[in-house]
Amino acid sequence: MVKAVVLGAAGGIGQPLSLLLKTNPSITELSLYDIVNTPGVAADLSHIDTPAKVAGYLPPDDGLKKALTGADIVIIPAGVPRKPGMTRDDLFKINAGIVRDLAKGIAEAAPKAFVLVISNPVNSTVPIVAEVFKKAGVFDPKKIFGVTTLDVVRASTFVSEVLGDLSLAPKVTVPVVGGHSGVTIVPLLSQSSHPLPSGFSQENLDKLVNRIQFGGDEVVKAKDGAGSATLSMAYAGADFAYKIICAAKGEKGIVAPTYVNLAADKEGGDALKKEIGRDLEYFSAPVELGTEGVAKINTLGKITAHEANLIKAAVPELATNIEKGVSFIESSKL
Ligand SMILES: NC(=O)c1ccc[n+]([C@@H]2O[C@H](COP(=O)([O-])OP(=O)(O)OC[C@H]3O[C@@H](n4cnc5c(N)ncnc54)[C@H](O)[C@@H]3O)[C@@H](O)[C@H]2O)c1
Repeated sequence: MVKAVVLGAAGGIGQPLSLLLKTNPSITELSLYDIVNTPGVAADLSHIDTPAKVAGYLPPDDGLKKALTGADIVIIPAGVPRKPGMTRDDLFKINAGIVRDLAKGIAEAAPKAFVLVISNPVNSTVPIVAEVFKKAGVFDPKKIFGVTTLDVVRASTFVSEVLGDLSLAPKVTVPVVGGHSGVTIVPLLSQSSHPLPSGFSQENLDKLVNRIQFGGDEVVKAKDGAGSATLSMAYAGADFAYKIICAAKGEKGIVAPTYVNLAADKEGGDALKKEIGRDLEYFSAPVELGTEGVAKINTLGKITAHEANLIKAAVPELATNIEKGVSFIESSKL
């Protein structure tokens, strides 16, 4: 029996994500929460002939608590997406409070659930959730994840495009590490399961890295004011949620890049900190998932000098983003 909860379920990501979760037969209960429209979304999805029992909740009558009670996995795509001209800072100002309040609800009603944070800026919203949990005395670093899967999905797609064969996309794996915005996104293309063509120029490599780092901008621009990535994000979020569920059920050997608190695996976390040369509290790394969430944080392994430079550029920005999330909760009244 698996109860999945989507917070922000009526939104651009929330609706297709909820649809994909409803089509996953391992989910037996699907609970949808938003400040608007969840009864309609829930009624619609409830007609699909899959096992999950669907219910929609709104804020009145303790809706958040009811949605969360008994949750095994909570996915958070609530908040405002980026519009053209909007900075990550603008986004932070709006989404930080939304994520804080939802985290407070989870800490009270479902403190043992796996929490998957999609709301941007992930580099800061994950520390926000963790700090709220710490204040509530229920923090378990193994169970809180920043969803960076879209970066991984984009890397697979863009590499297969370079290789001239999109049918390879589902098989191409590229570890994407660091964080989840701009220069903090570091694709380790030298470790791609399918190597780039021999003679691939440095200029083309730079372009490919840039496309993976700023893939979100392509979508924001193309949607021209109508939002950011929603469908690809829903796909990526559902994919990562499924990995968490499979690992929780005991499936071994599932490894996925995700942004976690490095205390989740002290040994792996310390080794990673040594590699990146800084005592960061959070980093996205390939993580082996287990029944309790994070089982092992893998190190970066062999990387090129170019990739080492990308990490060097990512680290100070990540440190600032983490600090921003932490100090937001320090100065918040909970
Ligand atoms: N992690 C990633 O890779 C990634 C990718 C794309 C977008 N995002 C982020 O995901 C978030 C959602 O994007 P979207 O395109 O779905 O936006 P959207 O505006 O379409 O949907 C957001 C939903 O959140 C709801 N919401 C707002 N405040 C809420 C609250 N307090 N409680 C519950 N629900 C609330 C809104 O009513 C809306 O339905 C944004 O922060 C966006 O930046 C993350």
